[in-house]
Amino acid sequence: MADVKSKMKLGMFIRPCGHHIGSWRHPEAQADAGENFPHFVQLAQTAERGLFDMIFSADSATSFTAEPEGLHRTHYVAWIEPFTLLVALAGFTKNIGLVCTASTSFEEPYALARRFASLDLVSGGRGGWNIVTTGNPAVAENFGSEPHLPKAERYKKAQEFTEIVRALWDSWDGDAFIRDRESGVFFDTEKMHILNHHGKYYDVKGPLNVARSPQGQPVIVQAGASDDGRELAAETAEVVFTAHEELDAAKAFYTDVKGRMAKYGREPDDLKIMPGLSVIVGRTEQEAQDKFQALQDLIHPEIGVAVLSRKMGFDFSPYPIDGPVPEIPQSNVLSSRVDTLVSAAQRDNLSIRQLYQKFCSTRGHFSLVGTPSQIVDKMEEWFVKGGADGFNFIAPYLPGGLDDFVDLVVPELQRRGIYRTKYEGHTLRDNLGLKVPASRYAHKKADAVS
Ligand SMILES: Cc1cc2nc3c(=O)[nH]c(=O)nc-3n(C[C@H](O)[C@H](O)[C@H](O)COP(=O)(O)O)c2cc1C
Repeated sequence: MADVKSKMKLGMFIRPCGHHIGSWRHPEAQADAGENFPHFVQLAQTAERGLFDMIFSADSATSFTAEPEGLHRTHYVAWIEPFTLLVALAGFTKNIGLVCTASTSFEEPYALARRFASLDLVSGGRGGWNIVTTGNPAVAENFGSEPHLPKAERYKKAQEFTEIVRALWDSWDGDAFIRDRESGVFFDTEKMHILNHHGKYYDVKGPLNVARSPQGQPVIVQAGASDDGRELAAETAEVVFTAHEELDAAKAFYTDVKGRMAKYGREPDDLKIMPGLSVIVGRTEQEAQDKFQALQDLIHPEIGVAVLSRKMGFDFSPYPIDGPVPEIPQSNVLSSRVDTLVSAAQRDNLSIRQLYQKFCSTRGHFSLVGTPSQIVDKMEEWFVKGGADGFNFIAPYLPGGLDDFVDLVVPELQRRGIYRTKYEGHTLRDNLGLKVPASRYAHKKADAVS
């Protein structure tokens, strides 16, 4: 295998029209993307041309976002269910990984284990599961009358859930199915493992009725940044999707999560940390800035003001949008970062419109606007200085933003020798440089032999 470890990893974060709130109105976005399967095929094939490790889909089983105002102006309220989408995309791609988000708060471990093992079989070893516990309480309203569990309990449940899923993926040894026509024996009973799990939240007998998949197990991804989230990542995750705007914060997170792994008998390299990265690239700096501003101008004021008001705990709607940012009572300031941004807005005489544009553009992710070499300078800095093993590329608008990244940024990464020039292997694990996990029952076999 090529020197897979020294290369930057790249995921392609999909949302129908792009990540930016105003993206669907952009001339280089596909406004009907949410119901347009050929559009997603085009995205997947472009990402594969750019040698991305994986397509990565977030998911939320609700149309409701945090701001009810202006909902009718948002584009991610309805789109193809992403697991179905990724299974379908497996047939149109050959090398790229297919990672789907699924929530431990609203799924059943047996059904989820079965679906993801099947994704891995259908795609020839390219599947991955992004474990989330789901923060948005609106999702709970679609799954019965029980209120959303508090976060600490969601994580306890997630821990048990994940353990069951991984154990179910070990239900069959890789060579269990002998299918001997002569003797009439289909599988070796010694190589089937019944789980018999009885825990606080779940009772699951097993075995899984899907054979061991080509990667041994699909790749485990995790997104959640609290102490509980980091612990779950250190124990189980092989990729972490995270959000940081500054290198120092990214480095602190990277060091902290990797530092927690040893107590679970894991090496730092068994986990790839991939912050989200939004990019707007131009052939000149001015071109990039103009593209960025054109996109910012597409944020409808109704949404912009709603986002700003929620973040600040202060209603900006009565104030003129192109007027100055009013004094905010200290008691309304929810975090030091918000405080800093508002103080800077007042110092620089920003209008309310300019301030919400700042808030809405990145939504907490690392964001770069510039020429290919300016962008790669920063990506390389984060990679070399221990802030990231790679990035989850978040296109502000799709497909245009992805086309630009693949045509302009990928060649510059390759020219500097920090990104692959061809896929190293056939499975997602091969390309990410991750081990195939040994079955938890492997030692039994070894004991039996010795
Ligand atoms: C980068 C990132 C991406 C996330 N993506 C999703 C998602 O697609 N669907 C979802 O239901 N929750 C998602 N979450 C929410 C987490 O599941 C979790 O509920 C939330 O982050 C609160 O936990 P934390 O405090 O540990 O971060 C995401 C969280 C992060 C940090």
